[in-house]
Amino acid sequence: MLNGEEGDAVRKSMELLTALGEVFGAEKMVPIESAHISGVSYNNLGNAGTEWLEEQAAMGAKCRVRATLNPAGMDMDKWEEMNVPKAFAEGQKRIIKAFMEMGVEPTCTCTPYLIGHTPSKNSQVAWAESNAVCYVNSVLGARTNRESGPTTLASAVTGVAAYYGYRLTDNRRPEKIIEIDVDLDSRLDYSALGYVTGNLLKSSVPYFKNMGNPDVESMKTLGAACATSGGIALWHGEGITPEANWASQYLNELESIVVQRTDLEEAKANLVSNPENPMYCIGCPHCSLKEIKETADLVSGKNLHGKLWVFTSRVIYDQAKQDGLVQIIEEAGGKVYRDTCMVVAPLHDMGWSGVVTNSMKGGHYSVAHGFPTKILKVDKMIEEASL
Ligand code: F3S
Repeated sequence: MLNGEEGDAVRKSMELLTALGEVFGAEKMVPIESAHISGVSYNNLGNAGTEWLEEQAAMGAKCRVRATLNPAGMDMDKWEEMNVPKAFAEGQKRIIKAFMEMGVEPTCTCTPYLIGHTPSKNSQVAWAESNAVCYVNSVLGARTNRESGPTTLASAVTGVAAYYGYRLTDNRRPEKIIEIDVDLDSRLDYSALGYVTGNLLKSSVPYFKNMGNPDVESMKTLGAACATSGGIALWHGEGITPEANWASQYLNELESIVVQRTDLEEAKANLVSNPENPMYCIGCPHCSLKEIKETADLVSGKNLHGKLWVFTSRVIYDQAKQDGLVQIIEEAGGKVYRDTCMVVAPLHDMGWSGVVTNSMKGGHYSVAHGFPTKILKVDKMIEEASL
């Protein structure tokens, strides 16, 4: 591949992976089973990134393994209703076209693991997107590093990844114990726990003790938050995650940090700057069907004045529509969009000036993008949006 015997696109991809492997001291390449590719929004890629993708496609780059795609900057059908500028939409369409020419599935979701892209335990994959990396490593027990858009595409095109980091069993050992000294009673609590942990640990592997009984949705928001604040790619949860038993043999050697209610509340409060007339966003990471059902139950009979926006994948949206849930949210004056999210859509250009969300990751980026922001539980968000 590196000699160019399989064409320029494969050679360039292999050059990138080889350089990465050399930097990290990888002894070899390993075959991967699948890829999840980030860096899809025109907001992030701009013209230069779009042209680069088009060049890869024109050179004949083709995926050898299953590859799914992270959210784009807009709902690919309802972008006008979202008030996305036309020039942005044109750029976004070029990006999706280039990915599709390379054989990438245009799933446009950051929760591919909710729609059937679920690698098996111990399999090697090349995934990008912070919450998806955390979920695939921690909850599914598959193996990936925190990849980037270009490296995941290169791995999809070559079918391999450099063997270093979290691909090796030894590097998956826990490094600190987080003793949870608080009853986690909402998904927002799990999100705040993740955010606090990321801030405390920075790119190491936590082992959570006493983390209650989190559902899939709590684990996805926890992973999103700890990856955002601390670059964490793998966590173990006592009695919960597939490698926790194996990981527990190392606990005697580790320092413990206690997390209490005050730590969680402080983390939430630090992101608050009281927005005026904000967008209320649910779906960071993208909503599951269960979350849409819970939202529909809460909004039924209310008037949300077009301010509550729910983000999910196309597959979940279709199921929610079949179950009548999208209709309930829309009848209450809410919106349900696919393919995009509150962070990668061009919210400033769409006319919004503030954000309220139930996600610490969403709140973190909202603040970083200069939006006055507030963090609330879903029921409180709905109460406020319908005033
Ligand atoms: Fe997903 Fe967008 Fe949040 S990509 S994790 S919904 S920032």
